[in-house]
Amino acid sequence: MPYPELKAILTDIGTEELAHLEMIGAIVYQLTQNLTPEEIKKAGFDTYFVDHTTGIYPQAASGTPFTAAYIQSKGDVITDLHEDLAAEQKARTTYDNILRFCDDPDVIDPIRFLREREVVHYQRFGEGLRIATDNLDSKNFYAFNPEFDKCGKCAGKGKRVSADKKQENGNCADDKSCGRK
Ligand SMILES: [Fe+2]
Repeated sequence: MPYPELKAILTDIGTEELAHLEMIGAIVYQLTQNLTPEEIKKAGFDTYFVDHTTGIYPQAASGTPFTAAYIQSKGDVITDLHEDLAAEQKARTTYDNILRFCDDPDVIDPIRFLREREVVHYQRFGEGLRIATDNLDSKNFYAFNPEFDKCGKCAGKGKRVSADKKQENGNCADDKSCGRK
């Protein structure tokens, strides 16, 4: 990631998301403590229980386990930020759906808080997208991948240029000697 302001946004959101995982894990742990086999069955928790007892196992509500395949990084700032924006909206929808089922205030309050944070993250990723495009050629944002391609000035020094030879466009911000836009 060549743009320091955008790097800071991504680090902030990533750190907060790890804390969210901890909060959700704590909620699940507290909700499943001291359950009787009858309560487990009545709540539809029996299939999870057979596989994991009451241990915290990262999976979707439908049972699909978390895998690295969910991390859809593509190595292109515009592509990846759109993926991040979509992920925040999907998280917000998931929290909306959880809130439709919930009647426990000790669950509702933190879930509302997390939902609100996903909306903020969406907005901050939007700011990030603006930072990225402000550094690119407004006539064609897609001519240059600032995470890989180099501008015309760097190309003159024998470095890589953009794939479609539009190397005059874009800001090669990861080369300290190059402030070109
Ligand atoms: Fe988020």
